Amino acid sequence: MTGFGVYIHWPFCRSKCPYCDFVSVPSKRFDENAWRAAYGENLKTYAARTADKTVSSIFFGGGTPSLMSADAVRFIIETIRGLWPVTDDVEISLEGNPCSLDADKMRDLRQAGVNRLSVGVQALNDADLKFLGRLHTVEQALDVLKNAKRIFPRVSADFIYGRPNQTLRDWEAELNRILELNLRHLSLYQLTIEEGTFFYKKGVQPPEEELAADLFELTDRMTYQAGVERYEVSNHAVRGEECRHNLLYWQGGEWLGVGPAAHGRFTQNGRFYAAAQSPDIALWMKNRTAEENVLTPKEKAEELIFMALRTRDGIDRTAFADIIGRPPEDFMHAGTLLDYQTDGFLVSDKKGIRATAKGLLILNALCGTLLA
Ligand SMILES: C[S@@+](CC[C@H](N)C(=O)[O-])C[C@H]1O[C@@H](n2cnc3c(N)ncnc32)[C@H](O)[C@@H]1O
Ligand code: SF4
Repeated sequence: MTGFGVYIHWPFCRSKCPYCDFVSVPSKRFDENAWRAAYGENLKTYAARTADKTVSSIFFGGGTPSLMSADAVRFIIETIRGLWPVTDDVEISLEGNPCSLDADKMRDLRQAGVNRLSVGVQALNDADLKFLGRLHTVEQALDVLKNAKRIFPRVSADFIYGRPNQTLRDWEAELNRILELNLRHLSLYQLTIEEGTFFYKKGVQPPEEELAADLFELTDRMTYQAGVERYEVSNHAVRGEECRHNLLYWQGGEWLGVGPAAHGRFTQNGRFYAAAQSPDIALWMKNRTAEENVLTPKEKAEELIFMALRTRDGIDRTAFADIIGRPPEDFMHAGTLLDYQTDGFLVSDKKGIRATAKGLLILNALCGTLLA
């Protein structure tokens, strides 16, 4: 098994970005004490079912968890430490927005136990930051990153590329500047237009297929040359600096999802549970409404194949057999697997099955026809 993590979803942001469909609402007013109590209660309920596990990662995601007080973050970390054994090298990540990350706040979060900070920067161009609805400038974001590198052992930054009117050359120049920041982890997302967002309603278009492919390949090549190589479709790191919590999602690990809209996957008495907390914030606060399903081994296997193919290392045969008890090919059409290898989309060898960069561009379509 690859570990056991706890994901905490904090659903508030200072304002809503026009591209974002995450479960997050703009709000300055939240009753933090009520939230602490709700997280604490939800953690206790889960602990009663998973007491045999050891926590290897904690992830504060959102929304904008840097809007939480460091005290609340400390309270949640301490609650988790009181409920489960925790590994010595536990990874504790927190997602933050440059608008709520001054140096004092970062020092307090570090003291509370956070050892990995992920900063939403999005662009190194003020006009594009404005277009993306961001409330910070490039200068502010760079200042936050500079301080973050002094305060946290591990720092990552998020960027969005494939913005309207952004040419391949524009992104090449910007990515060069991003790589000069010498961060050891980068999340580089192509802009997607999600239904229900402001961009969707305005008719903002994502890049054409050909440009999207060129942007992806350029990103892949430049990050590889800089030693911050892709280890998942949109995630890049110096070897050993991968986000261990996110690897749980992609490599068949177990985690609990705590907070509105949080998802979890964990085993109890040999069963695979898929849990989804209600995305309705008020409902979740009222009674922690959640749905839970027991996954069949086939469902679990298909999910693992789909997620693992997103990663550089792909489906690891040994790990897959440990989790599922059968080889991955048992769940695939043999002829299709062979065709995809011949066409250069997938590689299959003794270690496992992986997608090539070309395969990653059409991963959803590949999985749609590959799975038996
Ligand atoms: C929870 S936010 C990160 C922390 C903080 N809320 C912030 O935005 O600064 C997660 C990340 O998802 C990415 N993201 C969200 N919606 C996206 C979209 N439609 N297309 C591409 N990237 C997106 C952004 O890079 C964003 O930083
Ligand atoms: S991108 Fe971040 S700050 Fe913007 S709305 Fe989404 S979660 Fe909030």
